[in-house]
Amino acid sequence: MKTGLLCLCILITICTSASHQRRKFPEDFLFGVSTAAYQIEGAWNEDGKGENIWDYGIHNGVGNIVDMSNGDVAADSYHNYARDIEMMRELGIDVYRFSLSWSRLLPSGFADNINEAGIAYYNRLIDELLKYNITPMVTLYHWDLPQKLQELGGFANPLLGNWFEDYARVVFRSFGDRVKLWITFNEPREICLDGYGSDNKAPFLNAAGIADYICAKHLVIAHAKAYRLYVNEFKSTQKGKCGITFGVSSILPLTDSEEDRLAVELRRQGDLGIYTNPIFSKEGGFPKEFAERVAMKSSEQGYQRSRLPEFSDKEKEFVRGTSDFFGVNHYGGSFLSATDGIDDRVPSLNNDAPVAYHTPDDWPKSVSSWLMQMPNSLNITLARLHADYNNIEFYVTENGWSTYKGLNDDDRVRYFRAAWESALDAIEHGVNLKGYMAWSLMDNFEWAQGYSERFGLYEVDFEDPARTRTPRKSAFIYKNLLKTRYVDHDYEPENYIMSIDEGH
Ligand code: BGC
Repeated sequence: MKTGLLCLCILITICTSASHQRRKFPEDFLFGVSTAAYQIEGAWNEDGKGENIWDYGIHNGVGNIVDMSNGDVAADSYHNYARDIEMMRELGIDVYRFSLSWSRLLPSGFADNINEAGIAYYNRLIDELLKYNITPMVTLYHWDLPQKLQELGGFANPLLGNWFEDYARVVFRSFGDRVKLWITFNEPREICLDGYGSDNKAPFLNAAGIADYICAKHLVIAHAKAYRLYVNEFKSTQKGKCGITFGVSSILPLTDSEEDRLAVELRRQGDLGIYTNPIFSKEGGFPKEFAERVAMKSSEQGYQRSRLPEFSDKEKEFVRGTSDFFGVNHYGGSFLSATDGIDDRVPSLNNDAPVAYHTPDDWPKSVSSWLMQMPNSLNITLARLHADYNNIEFYVTENGWSTYKGLNDDDRVRYFRAAWESALDAIEHGVNLKGYMAWSLMDNFEWAQGYSERFGLYEVDFEDPARTRTPRKSAFIYKNLLKTRYVDHDYEPENYIMSIDEGH
């Protein structure tokens, strides 16, 4: 009897852990890969493309790229897009998220001169995707503003919203018959904080605590203009969805002290809330505590008005509720504690909402200084967003890990498996997660890190004029996930030969 009971207990334990291991992603869950125009396309001045802020910044020595490289050729996807799609078929993905180069379509940024060769390129790409049943998810802006618009102030100019709306109209009109998933902006925080508040990304403006906040307001208004344009002029016939994607890390208080907790919440508002609240919160506008903090600091610093602009009631109303889904780019996280910000630059976000970062020594480290593997962090991030902005549909629009060159990327495999389990946890806890896109299909120009950090499921040989692509181990592991729809921690590819399965 006792032995029987013991056997039963063992059986139940085995079944429960087996079923836990075998948790499946829903059948209609969309798996994909992501890329961005400047990081992969190359052909920087071909067929009428205009200059963008990365072309200009790097060619003119304004931007500092660690390996002195640029995106002039990158992975040369402008010429290799058919091979890219072949790789997607090898993986068996459902959706491809890529971005359009604004200056390839509108060389000066304005809609008076449409570059037909640019339209033709994206038509070829979209048609080839659809031929193989791969759904395009298209980002309108992934960091490459036409240089001519930058010369007029870029995101610091309140007219940015009009320029973006005009560009969006050309895009929806040209491709909306076939593209049903739109993302207006990729990572507002990185556009504004890194590009305007520091010199880490184009346009390398480095006007912290001022330009980044002005950018935030103009960006969300531009987003809302494009969204409303889609709803008013295109949605009823094209029947697609339009959203926006944010870079969201898991940030948790280091201790349970009130001080750490408040510091994290304030920082969360400054890092994320200034972009998400105007769109997704009930009250609209910038988050209250953060706005009060910046107003107070500005006045102490002798400014006549807050460095953080305000939204009028009309503007709040215009921006509120303008997204059909919430895109999340998630990589990692850290613990944060309160500090006095005394050593931080004045003015700056760091000084307005000061925090210190902590990461335990035993968390795996990637080759990117900012990327460490926090346990279960995708679920932590999604659960918090789900609680803040309930009932929203989520897509993980990027998730990935960096390595050096080399095909054996066990670190990436370990990271991905943990992230997929974490995504399953989120689904189990009721998060309305509709899809997951790995960053990235292949190695590409990693912004200020050039080609020194690799994020690809496929390795790209940047020395080779043909930019040959070769699958890494992680590509086979991802392919297996897509086939089985569960995370098989024991799966080892039998051989390293990639082929297209039937039906793709
Ligand atoms: C960006 C990508 C970038 C990736 C890795 C994301 O923030 O959207 O363009 O390559 O992170 O750094």
